[in-house]
Amino acid sequence: MSFITRRKPLELAAPAHGGGLKATLGWPHLMALGVGAIIGTGIYTLTGVAAGLAGPAVILSFAVAGVICAGAALCYAEMASLTPQAGSAYTYSYVTLGETLAWIVGVGLILEYTLVCSAVAVGWSGYASGLLRGAGVPELLLNGGAIDVPAIFIALVVTGVLLLGTRESATVNFILVCVKLVALAAFVAFTIPHFDAANFQPFAPFGFGAHEIDGKKYGVMGAAAIIFFAFYGFDAISTAAEEAKNPKRDLTIGIVGSMALCTLIYMVIAAAALGVVPYEPFSKSPEPLAYALKQLGQPGPAAIIAGAAVVAMPTVIMVFMFGQSRVFFAMARDGLLPQGLAKVDSRGVPTMVTIFTGVVAAVFAGLVPLDEIASLANAGTLVAFIAVAFAVMVLRRRSPELPRPFVTPLVWVVAPLTIAGCIYLFASLQTQTMLFFLGANVLGAVVYLLYGRVKSRLASPS
Ligand code: ALA
Repeated sequence: MSFITRRKPLELAAPAHGGGLKATLGWPHLMALGVGAIIGTGIYTLTGVAAGLAGPAVILSFAVAGVICAGAALCYAEMASLTPQAGSAYTYSYVTLGETLAWIVGVGLILEYTLVCSAVAVGWSGYASGLLRGAGVPELLLNGGAIDVPAIFIALVVTGVLLLGTRESATVNFILVCVKLVALAAFVAFTIPHFDAANFQPFAPFGFGAHEIDGKKYGVMGAAAIIFFAFYGFDAISTAAEEAKNPKRDLTIGIVGSMALCTLIYMVIAAAALGVVPYEPFSKSPEPLAYALKQLGQPGPAAIIAGAAVVAMPTVIMVFMFGQSRVFFAMARDGLLPQGLAKVDSRGVPTMVTIFTGVVAAVFAGLVPLDEIASLANAGTLVAFIAVAFAVMVLRRRSPELPRPFVTPLVWVVAPLTIAGCIYLFASLQTQTMLFFLGANVLGAVVYLLYGRVKSRLASPS
């Protein structure tokens, strides 16, 4: 079989741990897991960037991106329940679509996970800098200076914490989910009394479809392509498929529920923010939610929102750094990347991958603007979503007999619409992002042709 089409047999993708996980999670746990990984820089910071591209109609951008992500999440859940093994979309692609496409998805995931860490670090820095500025720290050392020092700091701190062998804790996650939700609810409570519908005029100054003005794409879809960032992270739920007490019911409620909840929360936050301040200055702030409150003469609540963002956002970095190590691990185990990269130490920490991801994430976070980092992360994620939506249909046709603990409802409608939606979002990304993405894939193709194609376990089965 050619290296392009060779596929990992599905049996190989059986759980590596021998099925030892206990089914203990109900839908509230799954929803907490999802919401904990999903809510981060997207809503806290990119709402501003996206509002600059769509105006108040960014509320619609949230709806578009949320619906597309919900479709992808349902496809993920079916694949996760079939192949509950490390590597998520990369592994699903390998068993269904073949090695070359799996490699492209793997490159997309590496971009996604690394750059999400960077983007969340920059978002964190926006809020941390607001607080530090108040404490008299010089401007040069803060977000907005030539080098974003706090962003580098938080990326490296999380790396250090992971190197110490710290794992996500369900209790800590639950508390931080509450912190994030209470802060967002407080934002709405403080802004609603000042809501003025006049701020919604004009509602969609740049129209619907993404179109370029001075080399930048605007419109509801231009904004959706970046705000899409706010919705992913639900991998955390689909990879827990094995641990769900009643996968069919709990995963559906957990996934659809957390996507619906996040979409609703995001639309309400965007409406509340843009109902109190004009979108243009809002879009330029590195801490837009705190900015809106400060404009209303409420520095206390602004500091509370900033504090909640600073406390809760690092967990998102943690989840994605973990994700990165799982993808590397899966790719190295398949022979497509050097084994040494995925080596774990005696405490089970993948040291090399963690240091590599942390340092690369810190460099991007320190030097590259947030919108560019987040857009490139989105490009990688969109490719992974498209692959998973294809994979779920391919496997329904090829192996209909497999027991599926979770079944994507209306798959022949949901999967094609997810693919179409993701392609539309991809086409709405900034042209520069597409070029960077192409560059990353050309580099990836060279690595694959020189290394993975030859070293793949499928090239020389042992
Ligand atoms: N959805 C995550 C966030 O917005 C990546 O931070």
